[in-house]
Amino acid sequence: MWRMSESPTGPWWRDAVVYQVYPRSFQDTNGDGEGDLPGIAARLDHVAQLGADAVWLSPVYPSPMADGGYDVADYEDIDPRFGTLHDADALIAAAHERGLRLLMDVVPCHTSIEHPWFAEHPERYVWSDRDGPQNNWIASFGGAAWSPDPRTGRWYLHSFYPEQPDLDWRREDVRAAVGQALRFWLERGVDGFRLDAIDRLLKDPQRRDDPPAEGPPPPPEHADVGTLRQVMSRNAPDIGDALHALRAAVGDDTLLVGEVYLPAAQLAPYLAHVDCAFAFELLHAPWEAAAMRTAIAAALDPGGAAGQVAWVLSNHDFPRLPDRVGADNVRAAALLALTLPGAVFVYQGDELGMADGPGGEPPRDRAGRDAHRHPMLWDETAPHGGFTAAGAEPWLPAIAVDGGGVAQQLSRPDSMLALYRDLIAARRALGPGLEFLDDVADGVLAYRRGPDHVVVINTSNVPRPAPAAGVVVRATHAKRHPAGTPSPPRLGPGEGFLANL
Ligand code: NOJ
Ligand code: CA
Repeated sequence: MWRMSESPTGPWWRDAVVYQVYPRSFQDTNGDGEGDLPGIAARLDHVAQLGADAVWLSPVYPSPMADGGYDVADYEDIDPRFGTLHDADALIAAAHERGLRLLMDVVPCHTSIEHPWFAEHPERYVWSDRDGPQNNWIASFGGAAWSPDPRTGRWYLHSFYPEQPDLDWRREDVRAAVGQALRFWLERGVDGFRLDAIDRLLKDPQRRDDPPAEGPPPPPEHADVGTLRQVMSRNAPDIGDALHALRAAVGDDTLLVGEVYLPAAQLAPYLAHVDCAFAFELLHAPWEAAAMRTAIAAALDPGGAAGQVAWVLSNHDFPRLPDRVGADNVRAAALLALTLPGAVFVYQGDELGMADGPGGEPPRDRAGRDAHRHPMLWDETAPHGGFTAAGAEPWLPAIAVDGGGVAQQLSRPDSMLALYRDLIAARRALGPGLEFLDDVADGVLAYRRGPDHVVVINTSNVPRPAPAAGVVVRATHAKRHPAGTPSPPRLGPGEGFLANL
């Protein structure tokens, strides 16, 4: 099996940059308007030239696409819209040829309602023993978490859409069947897995009601889910047993990245079995130094398990960076993400500064996430931005990006793409750990990385004094703060730098 040697500083993923590909929107090669595996293979040089270490593919398995592929109808095949198993093998080989690792997305919590197991192995799912919902649990995208099986009328549990029935992870056969799927992909050469929604694998065995939420009523967009404290419907105390089974299926050398929607302080039982978990508190923190510092500190100390953070500021589920942190802060967001210690995940298009597009017409995603999934802009002068053929109808339209597509940004030293590349190159020199600088102006986030480097970011909307920090290595606005000059005493809004002491 192909393996790159481990560095003396730890496993390959310790400070890895992982590039998230949303396959449907990356590159179409057959003119059907949807991205595919040959398209990803054809564009791998972009990822390699960015300096990334690995690629994470959102799901490419056979799926009716009720949830963008997170409704899997067969864990061990490729959806024809994306290609074939042969294409998957070719993609894995093409990644490895370029020194890139490949991570598959595995969705263990639920299958598609069209997975053959739902009809042939109904015992693998979670059923109400009443003629109706078992309890008050609410699905992640709203509405009751129980629905009647159209064929039998029996009520089943779904933590997400009704088309995604939850597997019963207390069952040995479920653990064995999903473990087998992981091994299937390992044997084809993949290097690791992003594990979807693992805080949902095990629920309260007595299936007690979730208690009402405390505090002020939730905002309207979370009205449903926000009414309950989800302490029974997920994160059961024996979660370690389920995760142990996943770990045992792949062995210790396979990267497992957990998607766990819990505060960092509750991650320890997960981090005992997965290598790292996404730091969602930072993604959800307001763009404000004090809140960001609190979220970073929490993530770096998840119950004492340092080095297990997977930083993420953006993915296919949330408004893109310009829409979330503000267009003026996008360059500083790149500086932040790429100078934190540990693995970092970069969502396709972030390296261009892509913003949200219009919601789909008609919407493909009921939770309203189409806007964050528009096609990659390869070349703004090409039809559909180079995503698909001239006469084709892309599943979501290509949208303009300030600063242009990849082809345009490649030739501009002050482009977002150049900033990402430069920061990814610079992060290799950063020392271990992170220490915050305390004596800084309001709205300034500053931290030391190892003995030699300091990062300073002004998150406020007014100019702020910056601590003296040696010589600028990279700055968000290189024209104002060129590399090689003394670190600036003041930073404008949205500005930041990495300096060498
Ligand atoms: C998290 C995935 O990122 C999201 O897209 C999906 O809808 C849910 N998990 C359910 O699988
Ligand atoms: Ca295609």
